[in-house]
Amino acid sequence: MGQIITFAQQKGGAGKTTVLAHLAAAWTADGRRVALVDLDPQKSLTRWATLRADPALQLVDSRDYRAASDLRTASRTHDLVLVDCPGAASPLLDAALRESNLVIAPCQASALDAWATQSICEAAERQRTPIRILLNRIPPRTSSIEDVLAALGPRTGLLLECRLGNRVAFSQALLSGRTAPELSRRSLAADEIAALRAEIDGLLADALAA
Ligand SMILES: Nc1ncnc2c1ncn2[C@@H]1O[C@H](COP(=O)(O)OP(=O)(O)O)[C@@H](O)[C@H]1O
Ligand SMILES: [Mg+2]
Repeated sequence: MGQIITFAQQKGGAGKTTVLAHLAAAWTADGRRVALVDLDPQKSLTRWATLRADPALQLVDSRDYRAASDLRTASRTHDLVLVDCPGAASPLLDAALRESNLVIAPCQASALDAWATQSICEAAERQRTPIRILLNRIPPRTSSIEDVLAALGPRTGLLLECRLGNRVAFSQALLSGRTAPELSRRSLAADEIAALRAEIDGLLADALAA
């Protein structure tokens, strides 16, 4: 059985699709079989995957009412099933959280993001699914981080060690169906994605061993 990772965050624009696409490309480059499930009606992941036209990356069509069984089915034939979620709380979001082995919640350095992150943590905890918070789009001066950490309170314990900077390459690359490391292999963006991928691989391996 493959593992299901849902990218969720109730505040729009936090970076769910961007992070998911970058990790998907990193894993397929390494020979992992990756399925993408786009449950967000905005369908930006679908657009990226269509532009990319990578046979190693399977876009799984899913309808709301059968999302849970679609995720389980995809996990039988893929190493990783990556799920992009709609922002708002919904039974669909809860179903994706419930089926997942891990939830990743991107969070930018703002109070609104931190508060929304608290909500998604509660939703994941209700479904008994482990969640980790990824600080995303972190500006070079990290003074703004302190307030976000305070707003996250005890949930700072859920922060991934890796953070992503605010880098134009992350957004630019997606426009052509690619990712930042594919535009420039030697870049801070490439280093950050490699580190993030390694950290999540470690979490998934621990979950399998548990
Ligand atoms: N680390 C980053 N650096 C720069 N821009 C980013 C970064 N992460 C996301 N973005 C940009 O922020 C916007 C929202 O990201 P997106 O992935 O669409 O969020 P979501 O899927 O959560 O709504 C997009 O324009 C995207 O290009
Ligand atoms: Mg999105």
